[in-house]
Amino acid sequence: MSCDNFKPADVVWHDGHVQPEDRRRLFGQRPLTVWLTGLSASGKSTLAFTLERRLVDIGHACYVLDGDNIRHGLNKDLEFSHRDRTENIRRIAEVARLMNNAGLIVITAFISPYRDDRQLARTIVGAENFVEVYINTPIETCEARDPKGMYKRARAGKISGFTGVNDPYESPGTPDLTIDTSIASPSECAGKVLAEVMARIAVPEGDRQHTFRDFR
Ligand SMILES: Nc1ncnc2c1ncn2[C@@H]1O[C@H](COP(=O)(O)OP(=O)(O)O)[C@@H](O)[C@H]1O
Ligand SMILES: [Mg+2]
Repeated sequence: MSCDNFKPADVVWHDGHVQPEDRRRLFGQRPLTVWLTGLSASGKSTLAFTLERRLVDIGHACYVLDGDNIRHGLNKDLEFSHRDRTENIRRIAEVARLMNNAGLIVITAFISPYRDDRQLARTIVGAENFVEVYINTPIETCEARDPKGMYKRARAGKISGFTGVNDPYESPGTPDLTIDTSIASPSECAGKVLAEVMARIAVPEGDRQHTFRDFR
């Protein structure tokens, strides 16, 4: 008798008992992924965490997936080759999709330099839940900020594969929103994105669950 290994193809999806509509009513919001893309030091993390704070303050369930933070855990096995950057983005998009399925608003802050990778992210998350925000801060400003001294090291030839200096950045052709953090404060930038987010997450007035079954 032959014996096969248990394979991925043998795994079957198991449906849950809570529908997206239930989660929409529970949180009083539609889920959304706000995908920030831009050069290092363009202001992605600052904007992401400012926006998260604002959303939570007004009662929305929200979470930031930040490039540097994710590379400390989930993606710490990945480097900065084109292939690893693609895998980095694929995993993040899958996590964002799961969080959206859980009903949350997700803000991602990754350079995500390749157009094809961002398109893949849009496909994984689902176009209806995806907003691409291009942080179009001039490279001169990013370089002048250089909070981690990386531009300096890249210009001096001490590191290779650094986006914008010796690695490509493919800017979005038709982003949903463009933000230049060299001409507006973090709070002003977050306000602009917040307006776009609020328009997309709104659920009908009164369509929030306020009564719950007794647990006994
Ligand atoms: N709107 C803004 N106005 C002024 N400085 C900003 C603004 N947004 C970010 N910065 C500054 O730019 C630097 C890089 O920001 P950061 O959010 O870490 O960029 P990224 O995550 O894109 O690498 C930080 O020192 C931050 O304080
Ligand atoms: Mg950052």
